[in-house]
Amino acid sequence: MMAGHPGQTVAGSGHEEWAVVDYIGVSDIQNLVQSMGAGVFMERLAAEIESDYRRWGEFEKSARLASHSTHGVIELMPTSDGHLYSFKYVNGHPRNTSVGLLTVMAFGVLADVDTGYPLLLSELTVTTALRTGATSALAAKWLARPDSRVMALIGNGAQSEFQAIAFCRMLGIEELRLYDVDGAASAKLEANLRSLPEFASVRIVRTRSTAEACKGADIITIEGLSPDSSHPVQQAWLTEQVPQCGYCQSGQIMATAAYLKSNPSPTDADIDANLTNICRCGTYERLRRAVHRAAALMRA
Ligand code: FES
Repeated sequence: MMAGHPGQTVAGSGHEEWAVVDYIGVSDIQNLVQSMGAGVFMERLAAEIESDYRRWGEFEKSARLASHSTHGVIELMPTSDGHLYSFKYVNGHPRNTSVGLLTVMAFGVLADVDTGYPLLLSELTVTTALRTGATSALAAKWLARPDSRVMALIGNGAQSEFQAIAFCRMLGIEELRLYDVDGAASAKLEANLRSLPEFASVRIVRTRSTAEACKGADIITIEGLSPDSSHPVQQAWLTEQVPQCGYCQSGQIMATAAYLKSNPSPTDADIDANLTNICRCGTYERLRRAVHRAAALMRA
């Protein structure tokens, strides 16, 4: 990693006119997580995210800029708080896996607003996975019952390990139930978790079905809503084609499913007042239509 500050030059490098920009690569992130411990890292990351949410109004917000092509999309996500400016570059190319490539890659830049100098260039592929786990646990910290101790983790791919680490650390999960249609994915997740000291006292149970995993669990991820996307809210979301990037949509769907239990016939005003999850892609119009559709399906 190179050290640098805005306007700093590399003395004796023969390139005095160049400013040096810090770089954080995948190995830097891995070293940081290992040195702190995965659970502590996630908890501190969640605290940073929470403090930024608490000053949400200070951020300049705009819809992400998407460039669609035949095989995928490349998006830029800019923001600024008036002092620091940043953007994230992220792609989504579903067919990449067929040629041994990742579906999603990301990197980002942090810059000084006053000078416009870039301060930091960072990989954001691994970091995004860490961020997603920390953000999910942060949401659950505020939304789940405080005495929640049993969690069903349905879908045991790479992201689920980050979810498990964050939830067990931040919510004190004592029993983790795993289910995936691919049993090998659950076995791999279990082995990875068991190798972490944080999971020494967590009961990890591999289950044979979604139903078995969810029975009596306190926290259920979106896959627990139905085994085949047949829940009325999921059906309405599919019909109205609500998601754009999809990042916020698990939360939108779970919030809607919970809200419709208490208000089966919401008005637009009810929806706006009660379903307040934020969508950076601005899918609110389609989301509202989907909520009405889901409500009608549930009343039928
Ligand atoms: S943030 Fe992209 S669909 Fe909501």
